[in-house]
Amino acid sequence: MSRYRNEAQYRGKTILAPMVRVGTLPMRLLALHYGADLVYCEEIIDKKILMCQPKVNELLGTTDFVLSDRTVVFRTCSSEKDRLIFQLGTCDSKRAVMAAKKIQGYVAGVDVNMGCPKEFSIKGGMGAALLTQPDQVKQILTALVTELRVPVTCKIRVLPDLQDTIELAKLIESTGVSALAVHGRTKTERSRDNNRDSYIKAIAEALTIPVIANGGSKVINSYSDIESFRSSTGAASVMVARAAEWNCSVFRREGPLSYRDVISSYLNYAFEYDNYEINTKYCVLQMLHDKMTEAPEADRCLTAKSLQDFAEIWGMEEEYCIILRKRKTKESEILRMAGG
Ligand code: FNR
Repeated sequence: MSRYRNEAQYRGKTILAPMVRVGTLPMRLLALHYGADLVYCEEIIDKKILMCQPKVNELLGTTDFVLSDRTVVFRTCSSEKDRLIFQLGTCDSKRAVMAAKKIQGYVAGVDVNMGCPKEFSIKGGMGAALLTQPDQVKQILTALVTELRVPVTCKIRVLPDLQDTIELAKLIESTGVSALAVHGRTKTERSRDNNRDSYIKAIAEALTIPVIANGGSKVINSYSDIESFRSSTGAASVMVARAAEWNCSVFRREGPLSYRDVISSYLNYAFEYDNYEINTKYCVLQMLHDKMTEAPEADRCLTAKSLQDFAEIWGMEEEYCIILRKRKTKESEILRMAGG
């Protein structure tokens, strides 16, 4: 048996990348619907998840991790459980373990973000700040691998020097993680810069565990492009961020669908799981990013304030009404069962 827990889960897979604001429940379910094998949630900081309580939401059929003011920080449902990877932001092994233990019963794996270049992460010693802190990387990942019963992975950016990156990747492998996702840009490089596919290839050759290639969205418009990116990097799997954010049907083996189809399907999930309107708006606007002038619905989306507004803009009033009616019936049932 491999010493890497369930590493097969990360081989030959197409994966929705972790994306803040984008990787919430409706988008994850949409990616799975179109054929993604695994979906990562947006990065959630360990301190935040530790402040939450898990609550069963009978009305929606979800488990919600909620703050004391009832803000939902993380919503999940059983249909994604076997394919959902929870991405943690952390700089502390003890806190990481506590946070991950709280979540592990609801997910298929836990990932540590070691690539975020944002000031918030770097100042807190998280994300890409960890790339140059090998002792801390080792401590955090070893603690998680030892203490959790689900597979542990991490996602890095490359270092400017290839040999340094391979050294870091080997150190990460030595902690017992089940896979390593590599975004082929350095901490200071931006999405317009070329992805260093050759670095990913060299890392994939140097490691035994599956390497997940990331950073290819500039050249990914369809499933066959995902396959090309996989073969050019020699990686075990591919993780897609922006190409999926713009058109999630990029995961469809039969080819991508129109933005209209994708937005309608996305909204169905957003309605069903009562997604926050502000998050729904953000995601829909990302899908319209290069169609703001041509899409007749675009201007109205900019001023939309509720899920009802989105239902009207996209001609989905009937679908939304059915969902609301079903929810009302369920609410009455729940109240009746509780003797209320
Ligand atoms: C990201 N990325 C990111 N990475 C990560 O590890 N955790 C996160 O929460 C986020 N959040 C996030 C939000 C948004 C809107 C974008 C566009 C990106 C980085 C992302 O996962 C990926 O590494 C890069 O976008 C490169 O991959 P693509 O876009 O070329 O497929």
